[in-house]
Amino acid sequence: MKKNKGKVLLGIAVLMLGLVSGCGSTTASKDSGNIKIGGDLELSGNVATFGQSVLNAVNLAFEDQNKKGGVLGKQIQFITADNKSDAGESTSAITKLITQDNVVAVLGAVTSSNTKAAVPVATDNKIPLITPTATNAEVTVNKDGSLNSWVFRSCFLDPFQGKVAANFVLNTLKVKNAAVFIDQKDDYSKGLAAEFSKDIKAGGGTITDTENYVGGDKDFKATLTRIKASNPDVVFVPGYYNEVGLIVKQGRELGITVPFVGGDGWDSAKLPELAGAANLNNTYFVNHMWADDPATKPFVEAYKAKYNTEPDALAALGYDAAEMLISAIKTAGSTNAEKIRTALENTKDFKGVTGVISVDPKTHNPVKSAVIIKMVDGKKTLLTHVNP
Ligand code: PHE
Repeated sequence: MKKNKGKVLLGIAVLMLGLVSGCGSTTASKDSGNIKIGGDLELSGNVATFGQSVLNAVNLAFEDQNKKGGVLGKQIQFITADNKSDAGESTSAITKLITQDNVVAVLGAVTSSNTKAAVPVATDNKIPLITPTATNAEVTVNKDGSLNSWVFRSCFLDPFQGKVAANFVLNTLKVKNAAVFIDQKDDYSKGLAAEFSKDIKAGGGTITDTENYVGGDKDFKATLTRIKASNPDVVFVPGYYNEVGLIVKQGRELGITVPFVGGDGWDSAKLPELAGAANLNNTYFVNHMWADDPATKPFVEAYKAKYNTEPDALAALGYDAAEMLISAIKTAGSTNAEKIRTALENTKDFKGVTGVISVDPKTHNPVKSAVIIKMVDGKKTLLTHVNP
């Protein structure tokens, strides 16, 4: 008993010391000098083009803002941590950004699984997290209906994206029988597949075959052979570009001539390199923006001028997340985390380059339009806009 009491007292003493010193350094770094913002990003690993696009766009937004005098009279400092496209690394990355770098808010992660791995850290430390791109429904609202009150996003959700894809198959391609090929360890892939399959069936269609792969796989031929044997009118692949590229290539080599359809995870300049431009003909995917739209074009021009390459949807969403945060810090008039959180929650009619963003205070989800991209000879072309 006595021994325990001693331990408790020692624990309290250590805790207080920690609080005092932690508080000291936090105050110093938050209240003087720059405004530090963290980036938990996929800068290497399986979806590295995603993190790179977001990084470029956020740098563009922050550098422009800094040239205009910064925010609240201070310069923004963007501190990134590479999550290596891995959920465990994403937890470590955001922990470092918050506890060592003392950032006032975090942008990222890109994928839904990596963002979910960051949510508890943002929540426990009461630091706002804005993912530009994680579309899985449970990033903001948990299965039990509770809100992750520190988490926001600048993109639409997979229940919408899945419905857009299913309606496209049923009403535009005018076919009913789809095979589905899922990355079984990825939250985005599983959630999007479930929504698509539900909507295909609700529209009177059939799922001819549901198959799984694991991110990082390279040889899909055995599974694609089963998919082909199920005789689908279309193959839905809700995955990321690395695997999708190889799946389309190998599928075409096996004589699968029907359309492949997917979601935003296809959006990478690497996709045509991996699939082969011709193999991508007769493929379509849902995405967040079209470069020639009036609201998007000025951003596209600025991005091209700086980086000498076309921005993808990741870049556009990253830019919007960065601008949303700048606007929230201005509205808050402070870098106090709770005040930034409240300002983000009250975001209304924010004119982003991917569309107008209003945050629903109950779900933290924006309602936005999608586009359907048709691949033609390795290039993205706009098929249509779809409103919610
Ligand atoms: N929506 C994907 C996810 O949640 C990430 C992504 C967004 C990929 C936009 C490409 C373009 O995992």
